Amino acid sequence: MMLETGTVRENRKAAAPCYYRMVIEVPRHFQARPGQFLQIQIESKTTDPLLRRPFSIAGLSQNRVTVFYQIKGKGTALLSRLQTSDQISFLGPLGKPYPIVPGPKIILAGGLGAAGLLFLAKDLSVDSQSEKPVVILGCKTKEDLFFLHDFQDLDIPIYCATEDGSFGFKGLATSLLSQKIKEQSKKGILYACGPNPMLAAAGKIAKKYGWSAYFSLEIMMACGTGLCRGCAVATRSGYCLACVDGPVFPSEEILWGKNAQRI
Ligand SMILES: Cc1cc2nc3c(=O)[nH]c(=O)nc-3n(C[C@H](O)[C@H](O)[C@H](O)COP(=O)(O)OP(=O)(O)OC[C@H]3O[C@@H](n4cnc5c(N)ncnc54)[C@H](O)[C@@H]3O)c2cc1C
Ligand code: FES
Repeated sequence: MMLETGTVRENRKAAAPCYYRMVIEVPRHFQARPGQFLQIQIESKTTDPLLRRPFSIAGLSQNRVTVFYQIKGKGTALLSRLQTSDQISFLGPLGKPYPIVPGPKIILAGGLGAAGLLFLAKDLSVDSQSEKPVVILGCKTKEDLFFLHDFQDLDIPIYCATEDGSFGFKGLATSLLSQKIKEQSKKGILYACGPNPMLAAAGKIAKKYGWSAYFSLEIMMACGTGLCRGCAVATRSGYCLACVDGPVFPSEEILWGKNAQRI
């Protein structure tokens, strides 16, 4: 993990409102694995926002790192105002990456969970040792699929689900997941990131069909480095920290809902 100062090379609004794509150039060769994230310092004239904000690495090419983000609050609104050539400070790469396990692979992305999974899909699509993944992208509506072309460039099967039916399958991405798992002749590995209800449902589907699953959790984080202990995740082995023990966890380790309150 390094403290880096990079230069913004691109920070533009993507097709849909409030979605941005940022490319940061760092002065040296930057190494990271899919699933890892950056803690970006938000420059402000006041001490608010004080804390860095976590963003998944969506792409990496030598010394250029790409992140996708959505304006949620003050930090991301300030981030969207950065101009090309502005300096930006971040900690990274942080966290544990997705483990690469042999076998058929399905990647399931809910909303902007697609960011880190794009990096994974790209890596797997060019890895001659690995089976090519099938990707399922789930969003509320077509406008949220602003990253679709990035996945389509990878020459792997892509399936989309929108809740309003404006693009692809009408319904939840987890319904498509059940279909695609059933179509596979061998048991495999599911990689997913997105809203917790989607992950909880995907975990049940993976278990039903005997697939292993690894999920990246987007928990609120303060330090991102294991110091504040503010990103606790309830697991079968007790509480873990999403920033250093995760953010990627084996699905069967994660406790959801009432089970999480019992430890
Ligand atoms: C490992 C990790 C990877 C992430 N990757 C991305 C990414 O690639 N792109 C992206 O847009 N966002 C990502 N997030 C979420 C992102 O960090 C938050 O959206 C961001 O910190 C919000 O900052 P803000 O100052 O704009 O909003 P705040 O003012 O801090 O919050 C605004 C609203 O967003 C909610 N919020 C804040 N942080 C989170 C969070 N971590 N998860 C869910 N809701 C949150 C708050 O509850 C509040 O309702 C990631 C989070 C984690 C932990
Ligand atoms: S965010 Fe501080 S310990 Fe994880």
